[in-house]
Amino acid sequence: MNPGHKYATGNIALPAGIASYSFGLANTDPSTVGAYNSRMLSDPRISVFLFAVAALSGGFAARAADTPRQLIAHRGASGYAPEHTRAAYQLALDQRADYVEQDLAVTRDGVLICLHDDTLERTSNVAEVFPDRFTAAAGRGATVKRWFAIDFTLDEIRRLDTGRWFNAKFAGERIVTWQEAIELVRGKAGLYPELKSPPLYTSRGVDMVTLFVESVKKNGLDRPESLKTTPMIIQSFDEPTVRRVAQELPSVPRILLMESFGSGMTDARLRDIKTFATGIGPAKALLEAQPDVVKRAQASGLTVTAYTFRSSNSGRFPTVRDEMSHYLYTLGIDALFTDNPDQFPRK
Ligand code: G3P
Ligand code: CA
Repeated sequence: MNPGHKYATGNIALPAGIASYSFGLANTDPSTVGAYNSRMLSDPRISVFLFAVAALSGGFAARAADTPRQLIAHRGASGYAPEHTRAAYQLALDQRADYVEQDLAVTRDGVLICLHDDTLERTSNVAEVFPDRFTAAAGRGATVKRWFAIDFTLDEIRRLDTGRWFNAKFAGERIVTWQEAIELVRGKAGLYPELKSPPLYTSRGVDMVTLFVESVKKNGLDRPESLKTTPMIIQSFDEPTVRRVAQELPSVPRILLMESFGSGMTDARLRDIKTFATGIGPAKALLEAQPDVVKRAQASGLTVTAYTFRSSNSGRFPTVRDEMSHYLYTLGIDALFTDNPDQFPRK
C-alpha cells in the first residue's frame, strides 16, 4: 500500500541560524502535514525562504514526476465482483488497491451501509423479498417502483442477496455495513467513503453527516496514528457536506466531487475550494475537455482525483490501462477511481 498523496520531498539548507528542515511541498502525510507546515511557516525567516524555494520550483504544489499515483478501487474491484460486497472489497485488496471506496447510505434504524444508489433494486433482490414495500416514483413517462434503503431496517436489508444480480457465482453475498467495511479494510488499504445523498436523509429527519462523523471518531479513524496506517479520504458531490466535514473532521483529507465545472473552473473558484477541501474529484471527461485544470488545481494546493475508469468503456483509448496512463502521466492527475484495479499502470 502506498501512503497518502505525496509530493516532492527532500532536505533544504536554511539560512544561518535555522536548522535544516525536511520538507514536503504539499500534503505528504494528510494526518500531520497541516500542523507541520503551519509550524514551519509561523517562523517568518522560514516562511520567506520557503516562498523563494516554492517560486523557483514552480509553486508549493509542485509534485515530483515520479511520485506514486493512487489507485482507488471503485466500489471495490467492481469490474469483477458485485459492487460493495465483501467479494469486491477483498479482490480490491488482493489487487493491491491503495484505497477501497465505500458509497454510503442510511437504513431506517440509522445504520450506515455501503450502497451506491439511494435504492436497493438495482443491486439486490429486494423486489422479490419485499414486493410491496416500494415507493411509486415518477419515471420517464411512467411510474416506477423504487425501494429506498432508508425505508428498511438493517435486519431487513441483511435478508437481501446482493451478489446474484451480477453473477450466479456470487449468490449469497450480503450488504456490507460501513463498520464491517472499516474492519475488512483497516490496516490493509485506505478507506475512501462517499457521503452520497445527505439532503435526501435530511428530508427524512436523519443527519447523515453526524452519523458518519460519530462513526469516524468512535473508530479513531481521524487520529494521526490511524491515518498513517489506514489513510482515509472523504468525498461528496454535496458542497455543504464537504464544508461541514472540514469543520468536524479537520484532520481528514476531503475531496469535492464534480459532475461539471459549472460556469468554469477559475483560479478564484479553486482558491475557494481550497478553503474547505484538500482536492477535487472531477468526472474524467471534464479534464479531457479542460486539461489545464489539473495543473492549476495542483498549483492551488489541491489534489486531482478523476472518476471513473473501466475496461467496459475506455473511450478513445484501446484499453483502460492506456486511458489511465494518459490521465495519470500525461495530464498529471494524482489519483483515480477504477473498476479494474489490476489494470492500474504503476510506474
Ligand atoms: O466517488 C467517485 C465516483 O465514484 C463518483 O461516481 O456515481 O460511481 O459514485 P459514483
Ligand atoms: Ca462513489
